[in-house]
Amino acid sequence: MALGRPSTHYVCSSCGAQTRQFFGRCAACGSWNTLVEQAVPAADSRRRRPVSRSGGALAGRSSAEDWNGAAGEAAATGRPRRSEPIDAVGERPLQRLSSGYAELDRVLGGGLVPGSLVLLGGDPGIGKSTLLLQSARAMAERCSVLYVSAEESAQQVKLRWRRLAELEGATDQADRNALQLLSETDLEMVLQELEALRPAVAIIDSIQALHDAELSSAPGSVAQVRECAAALARIAKRQDTALLLVGHVTKEGMLAGPKVLEHLVDAVLTFEGDRFASHRLLRAVKNRFGATHELGVFEMQGRGLAEVSNPSELFLGSQEPSSGTATIVACEGTRSLVVELQALVSTTSYASPRRTATGIGTNRLHQILAVLEKHLSLPLSRFDCYLAVAGGLEVEEPAADLGVAAAVVASFRDLTLPPGTVLIGELGLGGQLRPVGQLELRLQEAARLGFRRAVVPKAGGLGGLAAGLDLQLLEAGNVAEALVAALGSHPSQEEPF
Ligand SMILES: Nc1ncnc2c1ncn2[C@@H]1O[C@H](COP(=O)(O)OP(=O)(O)OP(=O)(O)O)[C@@H](O)[C@H]1O
Ligand SMILES: [Mg+2]
Repeated sequence: MALGRPSTHYVCSSCGAQTRQFFGRCAACGSWNTLVEQAVPAADSRRRRPVSRSGGALAGRSSAEDWNGAAGEAAATGRPRRSEPIDAVGERPLQRLSSGYAELDRVLGGGLVPGSLVLLGGDPGIGKSTLLLQSARAMAERCSVLYVSAEESAQQVKLRWRRLAELEGATDQADRNALQLLSETDLEMVLQELEALRPAVAIIDSIQALHDAELSSAPGSVAQVRECAAALARIAKRQDTALLLVGHVTKEGMLAGPKVLEHLVDAVLTFEGDRFASHRLLRAVKNRFGATHELGVFEMQGRGLAEVSNPSELFLGSQEPSSGTATIVACEGTRSLVVELQALVSTTSYASPRRTATGIGTNRLHQILAVLEKHLSLPLSRFDCYLAVAGGLEVEEPAADLGVAAAVVASFRDLTLPPGTVLIGELGLGGQLRPVGQLELRLQEAARLGFRRAVVPKAGGLGGLAAGLDLQLLEAGNVAEALVAALGSHPSQEEPF
């Protein structure tokens, strides 16, 4: 016996083989560095958390049973009932708690759901702690909030708190004392505090810095992250605390820790942005209580984050007419953004021409260049091509294809597209223009920002929409028609395609 030391073993994350000793290579499948420490789940060595000690609820009922109230109901046979007709399941209206920021609420699907777990990931220094402390400030005015800082001392958090107060212009601190702060890395202490306070919202910054003393592996290791998250999840579900966890990302940009962490939580949000630009984008990668692919936009200012409710202005560029620029309307969830694309086509001095794209996949650019070469007979294979999306936004959707094609052709021919024109459409390999989703939403955003012409794929019944928006719709069936329509009778047009 290891003198009261909890029992752990090592499990291969590749084949599942178990061993009591650590090896660099799994003896069963031969994979390297796949053995991960785990607590032995045997009944006698099962850890007793304070939550089970005091309440005893964990030992008896599962959380699902608590929800529908069917537990313990003995059937006529004397066997406890475990299932029930779906119609008999009681429904509780989904109460959402506003995070205090419309942009964060939008990504969460309308606000925080009690008892839910949200994981927020992002690069170091991107502003995760700032975002959550700002949100905690706002929420603490309406409900009880516990902020657990496992990475920073209470003094550091207080300093940030003070900066944020100055950002908001708050002078009176007396009414903002509902926020409870705990600077602690020991999981047991955090669980006890959660039990004692039973806050409506708890923020853990970060899950990788928490440490379960019953595991010998270092904080941040796969076993630690999984055990800490599971223990927190149990207590959060039981006492209806909305839990916000900060998660680190690896060098490759993935959330650090086991994949099981992403399955365990109800929502995974990523906070991203260019270190050299001030805007920050918040996205939902997974959400059990709302749509994914929603986008929240913030701007990092001197003292904290400010919401950007009109992000199109951020991605629109200078709007000075210049050759090689085109404007598209991208959609992110229910939000549409008017974005400027810039292309530079220049004679190559390499054996194979260079193609560099920022904000758009290089493969997509290669495909569009091939379509233009084939269907417009442009000798682009003898030219280097650079493409950039203004504002550092990543545009993944194919609806940007026509805009990319127009920017490339405009740069190649040294043309300027008429100002006030947006281009929307996906390019097929045969040069045809394919319809895109959410066209109405895109046209509305373009009209709102003062654009007066839109080149779109051919589709019936758009006339009424365009008239309502005071927008001239130019419908095209293929890329050549679309470019002729976009350039129109502009004086700089040299030759039709
Ligand atoms: N004392 C300060 N004064 C001014 N700006 C600061 C200060 N501390 C932080 N910032 C700014 O806030 C940004 C975000 O910091 P924050 O600590 O919120 O990031 P984070 O994502 O939590 O980082 P980490 O992963 O290291 O915890 C920093 O990159 C910096 O620009
Ligand atoms: Mg931080």
